[in-house]
Amino acid sequence: MKISPKAATPFARQLARGGGKVDLARCLMDTAHVIIMVLDRLGRIVRFNPFTEEISGFRMDQMRGRDWFSSFLPEHERGRMKALFERCLRGQSTGPITAAMLTRAGTARAIDWRVCALPDRGAAPAGVLWIGKDITQRMQAERELYELNKVAQQRERLADVGAIAAQIVHDVGNPLAALSMQAQLIRRRAREYPDQPVGSVLKSAEQMVMELHRLESLIREFMNFAREQRLHLGRIDLTRFLSEIAALWSQVAFARGINLIFHAPDTPLSVRADEEKIHRVLDNLIKNAVEAIGDAGGRIAICAGACGGGRVRISVADTGPGIARDVAVFRLFESTKAEGSGLGLAVARQIVLAHGGSIYHEAASPHGAVFHFELPIEGPTPDDAAARPPRSL
Ligand SMILES: Nc1ncnc2c1ncn2[C@@H]1O[C@H](COP(=O)(O)OP(=O)(O)O)[C@@H](O)[C@H]1O
Ligand SMILES: [Mg+2]
Repeated sequence: MKISPKAATPFARQLARGGGKVDLARCLMDTAHVIIMVLDRLGRIVRFNPFTEEISGFRMDQMRGRDWFSSFLPEHERGRMKALFERCLRGQSTGPITAAMLTRAGTARAIDWRVCALPDRGAAPAGVLWIGKDITQRMQAERELYELNKVAQQRERLADVGAIAAQIVHDVGNPLAALSMQAQLIRRRAREYPDQPVGSVLKSAEQMVMELHRLESLIREFMNFAREQRLHLGRIDLTRFLSEIAALWSQVAFARGINLIFHAPDTPLSVRADEEKIHRVLDNLIKNAVEAIGDAGGRIAICAGACGGGRVRISVADTGPGIARDVAVFRLFESTKAEGSGLGLAVARQIVLAHGGSIYHEAASPHGAVFHFELPIEGPTPDDAAARPPRSL
């Protein structure tokens, strides 16, 4: 191997001189594109590699012997990094940690840290080795993507508002025309036959009440969708919550020859969420399942479980015909039903998103549909809150 004696790193120079034993550890330190930092048992810097000099701006010869925690870490990170350092010295397990590192210019870089003990001849470690991967750029890219998504969500929502307004004009128009006709009929009767018993207008009045109910429920569903998703968070015990909902719906289901069952989770499971809103999500999913099965009879199963990543998954499965092809179920006003509003799943999706969760569906076997939604066990983060819809429409 031909290496110029002026090669950049001491190890390369050593190789170029053909000098004796190759120090593998030193080779790694010199060439690695990760931060490598050796500390003694008191947290003082023993050495760090050229890459650390490059990204931090600190020179090794000026930093040797200094306290690493106060020199390289912002104040708010020192506590948990010191705790990890001490765990490592005690021989306890230490997972990876993401923490900021300060540069000489005073900027902070995001670093994925791993720590391991440096063995000594004695029983106790001689010090620790920190290895850090600079993830500043990746985090920035993720943040930019998040901001873009947020803007896209807001745009989508504004488009929804326009669509809602157009739909409302359309949907409210028909019942209003019917109401107006019935009211005029009653007025004419009253004028022409003032002595007739009031019972003679009963039919018209009943039709008016029916139309008014329809309008009311339309407006209620619309309000549910349009209202700001301000969440009232609390801890929900999922076994209690889901069994209550299952009990409420099992009578409706039973009347239609549907067997509704709830599989309680094996271990106690709770989630921080808005109980009333999650109730609404489940109402929509179960109502759809009941409607999908229709009068043919069948089965609905509700279950919940932890699904990793600090999330719980709640599922509603039915033995109906399954979701028709080309139906974008979560799209506003998407409905295949004669009397459907197409708002149920759009509302459900909005609620789940406001909780920082996700909702999706798949086909059930041998037939039917399963809707799953996942929620973070610890509830929405401030970022989810920021991504929520604007205060008013
Ligand atoms: N469990 C299900 N099985 C089959 N299709 C479903 C199911 N749930 C929803 N869908 C489909 O998604 C559409 C949208 O549902 P939704 O938003 O609740 O509106 P709506 O119930 O008023 O039609 C339904 O019209 C139906 O075509
Ligand atoms: Mg529905």
